[in-house]
Order: sequence, then structure tokens, then C-alpha cells
Amino acid sequence: MLTDNEKTGVYRAIFERRDIRQFNKKLINEHTLQKMILAGHHAPSVGFMQPWDFIIIKSQEVKERLAKVCQKEIQALSIHYEDEKKTKFLTLKLEGLKEAPITICITCDPTRGGGHVLGRNSIPETDILSVACCIQNMWLAAYAEGIAMGWVSFYKKPDVREILDIPPHIDPIALISLGYTDQYPTMPILEKENWEKRLSLNSLIHHDSWLK
Ligand SMILES: Cc1cc2nc3c(=O)[nH]c(=O)nc-3n(C[C@H](O)[C@H](O)[C@H](O)COP(=O)(O)O)c2cc1C
Repeated sequence: MLTDNEKTGVYRAIFERRDIRQFNKKLINEHTLQKMILAGHHAPSVGFMQPWDFIIIKSQEVKERLAKVCQKEIQALSIHYEDEKKTKFLTLKLEGLKEAPITICITCDPTRGGGHVLGRNSIPETDILSVACCIQNMWLAAYAEGIAMGWVSFYKKPDVREILDIPPHIDPIALISLGYTDQYPTMPILEKENWEKRLSLNSLIHHDSWLK
């Protein structure tokens, strides 16, 4: 059982954690980094398959190569927007890979655990969902440690595989930027930029049927 203070801490982390793309130069110490990765490794996973691996990237040269393929993808995706929306999309800061002192590529190995992972036979994507749980654990741990974390997914997987020597059957699910920030946002950046709003929770709750 958690004490009242501990409960407050858990909810604070859930409500106040933010996606960050602005980093200062302060470095993360190795012990804290290991604790965050350990938090990720304690996430739930389908059939306990633990499909994740963590590629820790500190080389500026590798970070720059990753940033380049992300920028290429952001440019390519701008085709989906027109006029003002397109201009706005291109001004959003959607990655901070070069600035963040550490990036971790978190991968998913769909073959881990063999051909019949308990539970995964029904919904194959549960392997990737497990990796998402791992990343969320790391996000909350990062918040607890005062560390800023940003999830970057604007890239073509083959580009990232090539840069990081990842075998073809392994999926690079996320590039996670980690560091410290001078301005920890109090609301989602996309909300602050008037791109999206949080939906009303009432509109998402149904009772006994999708229709009710
Ligand atoms: C699966 C996933 C992929 C994401 N990819 C990106 C990304 O490539 N670039 C980016 O700026 N934010 C990315 N985000 C962060 C979201 O934009 C952010 O979580 C959302 O705007 C809500 O803000 P908050 O995390 O601060 O609450 C991603 C988030 C998730 C869960």
C-alpha cells in the first residue's frame, strides 16, 4: 500500500509529465540513467516476452545522422497539410535529437519468446504495446528524476536500422531524447501551440455499449 504522500507523487508524475524537445547541456549521471532503464525493464509485457532492447546513443555524430532522417521525414509529412496549417506544422519543434545529451532507441523484437508467446497469438501488436508500456515507465521515472524526455517517431524505420546497425526483423519503436530542460512545460506543447486540445473525458466514456 502507498502512503498518501506516495499516492500524490504517482498522480503528480502522471498529470505533470510532459513531452520535451528543448534541452540544456547538463548531463545525466550514469546511475540515474540505469535506474530509468530498469524502470522500463519492469514494464508489463504480453506473455512476459520483454521484447525491448535499449540502444544508448551519446555520439554527436550518430545523433546528427538520426536528426537528419527525422527532419527528412518531417518535410515529407508536411505534404499532408496545406496553407497555414502546413506553415505551422513546419514551425513545430518535433524533435530535439541534436540538443539532448542522450538518445535511446527502444526496439521491439517480435521473435523474442518463440513462435507462441502466451497472449500474443490473438493480437500480434501486443509486442509493440508492451514496448509502449516500457517507454511510459521510463517517462514517469524521468519525471520523478527531474529529467526531460521526448518521444520521437518521425522517421522511416529502415533509415534508423541502417544508422544503428539494427537487424531487419527488429523494429525501432522510438527514439527517446533525454536531458534536462530550463523550461519544463505545464501543458502539452501541441496544446500550447493551438494544434490540439485535450478531449473532454465525458465524451469518451460509454456504458454497456459503444452506443451509450
Ligand atoms: C507514440 C508516440 C509518438 C510520438 N512521437 C512524437 C514525435 O515524433 N515528435 C514529437 O514532437 N512528439 C511526439 N510524441 C509526443 C506527443 O506529441 C505528446 O505526447 C502529446 O502532444 C501530448 O503531450 P504530453 O506528452 O506533454 O502530454 C509522441 C508521443 C507518442 C505517445
